[in-house]
Amino acid sequence: MKRVDDFRLKFGQKEFVPIMIGGMGVDISTAELALEAARLGGIGHISDALVHDVSDRRFDTEFIKGKTKFYKANINNSDKSIIQFDLGHLAEATKLHIGKTMEAKRGDGMVFVNIMEKLTMNGPRETLQVRLNSALDAGIDGITLSAGLHLGSFALMAEHPRFRDAKLGIIVSSVRALQLFLRKTARLSRLPDYVIIEGPLAGGHLGFGMDWAQYDLATIVAEIAAYLKAEQLDIPLIAAGGIFTGSDAVSFLENGASAVQVATRFTVANECGLPDKVKQEYFTASEEDIIVNTISPTGYPMRMLRSTPAIGSGIRPNCEAYGYLLDGAGNCGYIKAYNEQIVIHPDGKNIVVMDKTCLCTHMRNYNCWTCGSMTYRLKDTTRRQDDGSYLQLSAEHIFKDYQFSVDNKVALPE
Ligand SMILES: Cc1cc2nc3c(=O)[nH]c(=O)nc-3n(C[C@H](O)[C@H](O)[C@H](O)COP(=O)(O)O)c2cc1C
Repeated sequence: MKRVDDFRLKFGQKEFVPIMIGGMGVDISTAELALEAARLGGIGHISDALVHDVSDRRFDTEFIKGKTKFYKANINNSDKSIIQFDLGHLAEATKLHIGKTMEAKRGDGMVFVNIMEKLTMNGPRETLQVRLNSALDAGIDGITLSAGLHLGSFALMAEHPRFRDAKLGIIVSSVRALQLFLRKTARLSRLPDYVIIEGPLAGGHLGFGMDWAQYDLATIVAEIAAYLKAEQLDIPLIAAGGIFTGSDAVSFLENGASAVQVATRFTVANECGLPDKVKQEYFTASEEDIIVNTISPTGYPMRMLRSTPAIGSGIRPNCEAYGYLLDGAGNCGYIKAYNEQIVIHPDGKNIVVMDKTCLCTHMRNYNCWTCGSMTYRLKDTTRRQDDGSYLQLSAEHIFKDYQFSVDNKVALPE
């Protein structure tokens, strides 16, 4: 019987344990979590979502305070279109977050950053260009392009001296999305170094419509493998979404995947950025508590716990501080939904907004409990303590359980 450790992910001459910990914003996949994956010979991700805020928390910078002060006069204005990101500050925050993480890296693995296209920041092209190039400047090992088709992202980095050396990959959920990406980037003569195939059981935003349940990860992996073979393209495929045990991972590794990307199991690691009390919510969740809804202003369905405080919260849009989801015209689905409620309740009191949520603020405050479909099984990965709470695990314990376990078993902590 095989185990994950019998396989290796190869990038050129270098070999890695074929386990990637997925990027989880906002600072759920912390530098500490990503660094553990690298130390253990795999690949960890940090995320650049709300990078100014992450920098403020990690390094005592004051980017958010400064931006809020700058746009103070706009706080009561329902029109948020004047809010712009200072590109110099964006580069500085990105370089701090990534640079300090890379300085701390030990071991043979790598640290990548997850960069979501949907963070359009009221200037989609310019801000994405700064985010990508600053990540390369800061010495990141690789960039995973996510939450979007990223048709122009390679071109935005093409002049960077590290464009051909850094590992660059993309997350897709269909063969069609990959075909579009490859067609669009063909003129740059630079293939992605890896393709992550995220199925319908993943955490965070889903690359499917509300018909997500009709899709199946193994089928999509087989379709993409067949397409690449027909095109004579040799790109490592990484399967993601619902892979809960080492044995689940082995079944993908035996069927064409070069590695797996996992996240849910690590949401209850000591190194994960979620507050301890939220980790307990994940532990106690039952299968019925996990829902997929459309409250994310990005337009993608998102999986979360039913008890998420973000659902129905009618807070004032907080774009003066954040504003990461403002499209290029200064709009966001939440602002529209909130303004509609204000017309009905002009006093602004007790506003409830059901259709959308202020995702920036709620993710920042860990009040949007996004999760993977297997979250309800987390309780089976640990022990219950005398006070009734569940014991958090070390990232090393979870990583090694994926790496060495067989027979669908999960090793409990000592
Ligand atoms: C709490 C949570 C937050 C996530 N946030 C992001 C994100 O910000 N960007 C992204 O591309 N994927 C995100 N994901 C998806 C993961 O990176 C990963 O691909 C997926 O969840 C793997 O499936 P699993 O959770 O079933 O192991 C998130 C997943 C979880 C569980």
